[in-house]
Amino acid sequence: MARPSVLVTRMIPQENLDQLRERFDVDINADERILPRDELLARAKGKDAILSMLTDTIDGEFLDAAGPQCRVVANFAVGFNNFDVAAATARKVILTNTPGVLDDATATHAITLMLATARRVVEADKFLRAGKWVGWAPLFFIGLDIDGQTLGIAGLGRIGKNVGRKAKGLGMKVIYSDMRRDAEFEAEVGARHVDKETLLRESDFVSLHVPLMPETRHFIGEKELAAMKPTAVLINTSRGPVVDEKALARALKNKTIWGAGIDVFENEPQVEPELLPLDNAILVPHIASGTTETRLNMGRIAVRNIIKVLGGEPPETCVNPDVLRR
Ligand code: GLV
Ligand code: GLV
Repeated sequence: MARPSVLVTRMIPQENLDQLRERFDVDINADERILPRDELLARAKGKDAILSMLTDTIDGEFLDAAGPQCRVVANFAVGFNNFDVAAATARKVILTNTPGVLDDATATHAITLMLATARRVVEADKFLRAGKWVGWAPLFFIGLDIDGQTLGIAGLGRIGKNVGRKAKGLGMKVIYSDMRRDAEFEAEVGARHVDKETLLRESDFVSLHVPLMPETRHFIGEKELAAMKPTAVLINTSRGPVVDEKALARALKNKTIWGAGIDVFENEPQVEPELLPLDNAILVPHIASGTTETRLNMGRIAVRNIIKVLGGEPPETCVNPDVLRR
């Protein structure tokens, strides 16, 4: 009997790939490029499972191109705004993601961006390399304090909570906004639940941890930036479209806010050109979960989900559980 076939849309850690190859015929895009849409659709045709990236749009057109034998699309990401969940559910295709294993890496990255922005690390490094340093001085490269400052967490999921715990360790006060209150988190971190307006008004640092949904598109825009302190810093490790990038560039340029640490962009890999010359922004290319262990663990979940579904079992993590109930 022919082995089931799997399309892997981008190179993944070798161990993950070996595990798939033991059981399946694997078609992997091993090039340093995102598959263009027409090639993605062509290579999906006839596959039983897809291991997809957040850069692949998985919608009705994609699933129809893959064909009715396709049972599962396993995203190599926790975020799944690249999925049309309703289209997959209508076609009884199981969709999975990789929650949990990247919380620490992503939260660490948010903290890294916060500290690096506050202490102007990237700007100072560029300054030194440009040969501009003439010696120590008291009023030279002045940054922001961390200890005793208030961190506002927008969206208290697993990653937001992890950031809160780390911030407590840095001596910060933590406030958070979320639809739900979390008494356990409040007790653990000494955090206070506030509404969005209060969060923006009181925070010295605002870190975004909401998923991208229609309701969170431009969650931070001109009005929100204007409500922040002029000494405040915005950190975004969630999804680019959660922030209005043009409004952010204007706010940084006009010093409406003090700085920003940005890992995700509205139209990746494009970056709003107005952001590029600004020294008060640290801009990095969507690398928050990028550690060896974390990427391996994300791959392990995606691979196990494919093995389970093709073996007739439910996956470990499913974003459209309605399909499993039928
Ligand atoms: C990365 O952005 C992810 O969603 O895993
Ligand atoms: C700074 O390097 C100091 O010694 O205060």
